[in-house]
Amino acid sequence: MAKVKKAYFCQNCGAQSPKWIGKCPSCGEWNTYVEEIIQKEKSGSTKTQEKSHRVYPQKIDEITYSTESRISSSSKELNRVLGGGIVPGSIVLVGGEPGIGKSTLMLQVALRLSGQKVLYVSGEESEQQIKMRAERIGARNKDTYILTSTQTDEIFSFMDEVDPAILIIDSIQSITTSQLESSAGSISQIRESASELHKFAKNSGIPVFLIGHITKEGHLAGPKVLEHMVDTVLQFEGDRNYGYRIIRSVKNRFGSTSELGIYEMLGTGLREVDNPSEILLSQRDEDMSGIAIAATIEGLRPMLIEIQALVSNAAYGTPQRSSTGFDLRRLNMLLAVLEKRSGFRLSTKDVFLNIAGGIRVDDPALDLAVIASVLSSNEDTAIDQKSCFAGEVGLSGEIRAVTRIDQRISEAEKLGFERMFISSFNKKGLNLSDFKIEIVPVSRVENLFRHLFG
Ligand code: TYD
Ligand code: MG
Repeated sequence: MAKVKKAYFCQNCGAQSPKWIGKCPSCGEWNTYVEEIIQKEKSGSTKTQEKSHRVYPQKIDEITYSTESRISSSSKELNRVLGGGIVPGSIVLVGGEPGIGKSTLMLQVALRLSGQKVLYVSGEESEQQIKMRAERIGARNKDTYILTSTQTDEIFSFMDEVDPAILIIDSIQSITTSQLESSAGSISQIRESASELHKFAKNSGIPVFLIGHITKEGHLAGPKVLEHMVDTVLQFEGDRNYGYRIIRSVKNRFGSTSELGIYEMLGTGLREVDNPSEILLSQRDEDMSGIAIAATIEGLRPMLIEIQALVSNAAYGTPQRSSTGFDLRRLNMLLAVLEKRSGFRLSTKDVFLNIAGGIRVDDPALDLAVIASVLSSNEDTAIDQKSCFAGEVGLSGEIRAVTRIDQRISEAEKLGFERMFISSFNKKGLNLSDFKIEIVPVSRVENLFRHLFG
């Protein structure tokens, strides 16, 4: 009889220990160790398995690959974040909070791929539930196979029969391997199942998509090792109160990690958003204070987004600072710059900041628009609707140059803006006669204030 082997695993980082310990030496978290049963099967069978996939060292000159072999995923936005399509034999993790639309996205990909067989394995929903969702999405790929299974062995046993071009696993937390006896969703199960799927992808050349849940704190529920094991990590995010969903690549061995795709969740599945600026700029008839438009770039796409600020006298002793979609520490830094370098008295004011559309953007060029919106609300004077901003603000109140300014300007011009504030350092090397839009170079925060509010 095989001996029952047990070990303790950190539920945060996946570190293993033979004994229980209070503080994880690897990630420093407290009380994260949980006992899990690991009972390996007799080692004989795994050895023969390994032998059949014997690899030999190869000269680098003799290794060939083809760039043409990427499979188009039927979604322009997904292709974009993957770096141009699905790479054969790659393993892609799609993470996101529950209910954000991961299953919908992947089922939609399966149903829109025409002429390619897709095996969609669900460990969470029944065939009927998936069928109902497919009806909502409306697309039809007759070669989509649905399998409700949670066992890796069972999944692999159907692979010869179905012979899919793509395998989708929904979700990795629900899959178990018979090699281990711990329960589904435990660290050791996730790690071992993912490793089997990884081996499968590499040996067969069939790309595998793993859907993974993310915890409230934004971490993948499961160990960090999962992120190391896969080729690409995509994060699907968005504010559930809005319809917009963003997919971004956090890690990509086959492309850039600064790419981003945008979808809108409708009653009939996810719609691709080609022109993000249109949805991110709110429609308003009258001028309102506290609003400024930033010309940002995410990945390779320029887009204009709206920053809304509200500055009011603090009702209680300590002023509140809160921000949605923008880094709070960065906001605090910008407020300190305004206070210390430019003499704006904001230390007794509550400041609330919001990026319209419920999206999170991470581009230093937002700073100028953030400052403009805060000043506009503080002065209670609206900024002209035809103006936009792109510039980084430094600690001494200087406005610094940002990358790819010409793309930002072109996008602003295309969307009908008439005036754009940029750093005066960005003006160098820029041929202003190329643009119809009026460019206002500013070098310091006070400059900006004078231009906007006289
Ligand atoms: P789901 O894909 O199940 O999320 P996840 O797999 O990430 O947990 O979808 C979640 C939400 O999307 C659900 O609340 C219903 C909604 N939805 C739509 O609004 N329109 C649709 O066409 C579909 C299929 C789902
Ligand atoms: Mg799901």
